[in-house]
Amino acid sequence: MTRTLAVSVWRGKEEGDFVTYEVPRRDNQTVLDVITHIQRNVDHTLSYRFACRVGMCGSCAMTVNGKAMWTCRTHVSQVADNGKLELAPLSNLPVVKDLVTDMRDFFDKWARGMGQFKGSRTRNDDFEKVQPDSKARKAADAGIECIGCGVCYGSCDVVSWRPDYLGPAALNRAWTLVNDQRDVQSAQRLSVVAGDAGCHSCHTQGTCTERCPKQLAPTASIAGLKRLLMTSSAGGK
Ligand code: SF4
Ligand code: SF4
Ligand code: FES
Repeated sequence: MTRTLAVSVWRGKEEGDFVTYEVPRRDNQTVLDVITHIQRNVDHTLSYRFACRVGMCGSCAMTVNGKAMWTCRTHVSQVADNGKLELAPLSNLPVVKDLVTDMRDFFDKWARGMGQFKGSRTRNDDFEKVQPDSKARKAADAGIECIGCGVCYGSCDVVSWRPDYLGPAALNRAWTLVNDQRDVQSAQRLSVVAGDAGCHSCHTQGTCTERCPKQLAPTASIAGLKRLLMTSSAGGK
């Protein structure tokens, strides 16, 4: 007898409903495999997003049985509840259609938090080097592997309560650049993240850190920003 999964999938935009599909259960099946099966074999109009399938691009995140996660590296066996899956778009972002969210707010906040590197060298200079085993390099490396998946953002209560809050990913990025000794915009960046919608709004309960698929710790990055602001002229609350 073929084993099956009962998969409820959000269909629609902000308004919509869950539709249930029966999907054959396979060994080593990922949640993304399940969605792909539905889209290829059952309903071609289902919209979802993915690119790399190997945990690098960050585009496949959604809400699975109530929790935000990446889906290409999540096995069904890790998350299925009695043979059932419920798939919904990421929270805290507008829904474009079905499982696809509009990520503009998320990336606009990276820009607002000055998430772009700016160095002092020109193209005529040699690369500025940070020694691999130095303390400075370790500090800058701590949060650098972010893939921009939005799992932390979709899991953050404060983003739900106040949509202008920069959120864990943008603040983690700001902290990464503050620790990059080659970057020349730290003072401005600190004054941006010290604002009302910045790091002081974080309640430090750590859902972002618990769910980050890259095992980063945005909560620690935000705490680092708060600590630094206490002693810097950019100030804070
Ligand atoms: S620790 Fe801060 S940034 Fe992380 S989920 Fe909680 S409020 Fe959001
Ligand atoms: S900090 Fe983690 S959860 Fe948040 S966007 Fe980056 S990789 Fe994703
Ligand atoms: S498809 Fe690229 S991280 Fe999942």
